[in-house]
Amino acid sequence: MSQETTTAAASTFIETFANDVQLGLKGSPKTLSSRYFYNTKGDELFQLIMKLPEYYPTRSEYEIFSTHKQKMLELFHNGGETFQLIEFGAGDGTKTKILLKHLVDQQVEFTYLPIDISGNVLEQLQDSLAQELPTCKVNIMPYEYFDALERINAESKLRKVILFLGSNIGNFTGERAHQFLQGLAERMNPNDLLMIGMDLMKDPKTILNAYNDAQGITREFNLNLLDRINEELGGNFNRQHFTHYPTYNPITGETKSFIISTKKQEVHIAALNQTFHFEAWEPIQTELSQKYNLPAIEQMALGAGFQIKSMLFDCKHWFVDAVLSKP
Ligand code: AVJ
Repeated sequence: MSQETTTAAASTFIETFANDVQLGLKGSPKTLSSRYFYNTKGDELFQLIMKLPEYYPTRSEYEIFSTHKQKMLELFHNGGETFQLIEFGAGDGTKTKILLKHLVDQQVEFTYLPIDISGNVLEQLQDSLAQELPTCKVNIMPYEYFDALERINAESKLRKVILFLGSNIGNFTGERAHQFLQGLAERMNPNDLLMIGMDLMKDPKTILNAYNDAQGITREFNLNLLDRINEELGGNFNRQHFTHYPTYNPITGETKSFIISTKKQEVHIAALNQTFHFEAWEPIQTELSQKYNLPAIEQMALGAGFQIKSMLFDCKHWFVDAVLSKP
């Protein structure tokens, strides 16, 4: 992770982590943020999750890219103007590479700007693109999303097309998703586009299985958070006494994952100099993965000041990439 501190007052990554853990475990109900899933081990586990038979979102969105890459080209290359293709949380870029290859093959003028707070991930992506698509212009941006956008705006007036894929927006509560989209709208010009990947409501059993795979990889991914607290903050969580519990609420579309304490116990965290008490069967909420329906997407987009230009679906309509612009 390339965590930058620009001023003496800014806190380091580890201070923020410690502070978030302290607030989350003092709260009622207890919570821990899913943003801390992604250390080296967590990145590896997420790579495995994306290949699981039960974890359909990645394959659904991959299908959307394969099927609709020409439609994306037409939307993004509006008027034949050069543009900047910006991606939030680019990761390994597997899905995006389908589009990048198509744009390069069709000789479209653009620069790809992947943004990720992990500089490591970005360097790997840059290397793999240099191999696979040597003529694609790439400019990696190891910054927070909004910081990166402000830098891009300050450096050029070119049209922006922003990608936020993988239903990563589903980790935000409704309120935070609203703030995030409004923040984007403020930093976008009238001709810019935003394409957001969102996982849709479907058979509740399909959704729940995606977070409760038979091999137990998602369980590992969730409980890895306890290992990370042990390693980085000197905790003494014993994962034998905690269990992975995912839920899906078909009314609200909220898919929540919990870590449940299977007995009454105390956990000490040295970096916080604190002991936390757990009742038997007390939950810690660790993740929200919101599932949407079309009215909810429309409401969210319009509410943040966007209009919907296009909705791109996979053949089962399990996932959507919504293309938005400012009216
Ligand atoms: C990467 C946040 C979209 O919420 O589905 C996968 C993470 N969690 N399995 C999701 C995840 C459990 C994933 N996102």
